[in-house]
Amino acid sequence: MSSAVIAIASDHAGFPLKSDLAVRLRTSGYEVVDLGTDGTASVDYPDFAVAMAAALRDGRAQRGILICGTGLGISIAANRYPWVRAALCHDVTTARLSREHNDANVIVLGGRLIGVELAWECVDAFLATDFGGDRHSRRVAKLTTPPELADAAIRTTDG
Ligand code: RB5
Repeated sequence: MSSAVIAIASDHAGFPLKSDLAVRLRTSGYEVVDLGTDGTASVDYPDFAVAMAAALRDGRAQRGILICGTGLGISIAANRYPWVRAALCHDVTTARLSREHNDANVIVLGGRLIGVELAWECVDAFLATDFGGDRHSRRVAKLTTPPELADAAIRTTDG
């Protein structure tokens, strides 16, 4: 997928890993849109999840990488946007399966928890793997169920 544009964003806790991955991506031939943050000064991770959601919606990038300290907060924030499927990955298998099964368009990493080499292997697997389609398409379609239909589905399963 080397013709894809990759957006990358992090908070202060993810900044060192973001910087490293951005260099590796560019060296590997990817065009990288860096959405910040630009240093280690304290910032709020939801702001960078919003920036990622906007970049994907506007078509400025086809895939994304988000990083905060644990990966948790920025995952929660990013997945509030229906067109974002952000997968927090800690190993190469989850990175690969996030594409194959979930058609994830954003990989999320915990910058304070994962080493640079493993993070790069995860990103490499994420970018190299295609969605599996088939039965997974039906399931992924249900991830973007409109809120009113989701409410109805919950009511049907209540009790
Ligand atoms: C920042 O200190 C930290 O809370 C943040 O990077 C992230 O881990 C939140 O989920």
